[in-house]
Amino acid sequence: MNYFEQLELLAAKQGGYFYPWRSTLGENNGEDAYTQAVERHLTDQKVVLDAGCGHGDDMLLFAPKALRFIGYDAVESFVSIARRRASEQGLVNVELVFCNSSPQYNGGAARIPAAETSLDLIISRRGPTNWIADARRVCRSGARLIQLNPLPAPQPHWNVELPEALRLAENPANPARPALAAQIEASLARANLKLEDSQVFDAPEVFAEPEELYRALTFMRFEAETPTWEEARPHIERLLSRHGPVEFRQRRLLWTAVVD
Ligand SMILES: C[S@@+](CC[C@H](N)C(=O)[O-])C[C@H]1O[C@@H](n2cnc3c(N)ncnc32)[C@H](O)[C@@H]1O
Repeated sequence: MNYFEQLELLAAKQGGYFYPWRSTLGENNGEDAYTQAVERHLTDQKVVLDAGCGHGDDMLLFAPKALRFIGYDAVESFVSIARRRASEQGLVNVELVFCNSSPQYNGGAARIPAAETSLDLIISRRGPTNWIADARRVCRSGARLIQLNPLPAPQPHWNVELPEALRLAENPANPARPALAAQIEASLARANLKLEDSQVFDAPEVFAEPEELYRALTFMRFEAETPTWEEARPHIERLLSRHGPVEFRQRRLLWTAVVD
């Protein structure tokens, strides 16, 4: 199963892209900073495009403050849910497009589903980065690009205490922060765009409840060998009784660029 097939299953299972667990995410995690950065640049005169819009959470937040809001996503079910939510909210300035912007789906060159020089702002909360290559074509002069990217974090020390089928996988490529930031800067440079600002956020996400930790550990794991809650329960309960609440690091990169 590829990533997009997994996301289709996620849409069928829980009705959208969201984290189905309760945890405490420390302040300064980047999500609010991203929202504020978008809001600083959003006006009712601007056309904004959301790359990898999921089932439309940011559409509900930002479309009422924009002239026009275009969202696209490679998962058809997410786009359908976003369309339904837009019509339920009476959002008439919204266009939602089922599209994969990756080069593989567009004859070898990334493609944003928008016309030449039609956009004032491109935003993306944890979406793909391939669209950077096509940003100059679709943006007006002075447009801004704003993205929040998850960064790999070191594995928690308690990971090794879990049964293998529940452990967080090693990230073999492990593009640590400088590598991802450098990749983004290189993509921007290839597209003749310049990084304006970038900031790294690092916050703990704390789990106190065994079943919530189970939900996080098994998120997007649809393989038959993934332990059920009943199978996993004694291991996770033992882990929490040994350590008390456990934490993951949540690291994010927030960057902006300007189209001159
Ligand atoms: C982590 S989710 C975030 C969704 C949404 N931005 C949010 O904050 O809820 C990443 C989204 O990007 C979409 N995505 C990833 N690669 C894509 C691509 N090449 N083209 C279009 N969408 C893509 C996925 O389908 C998924 O909905």
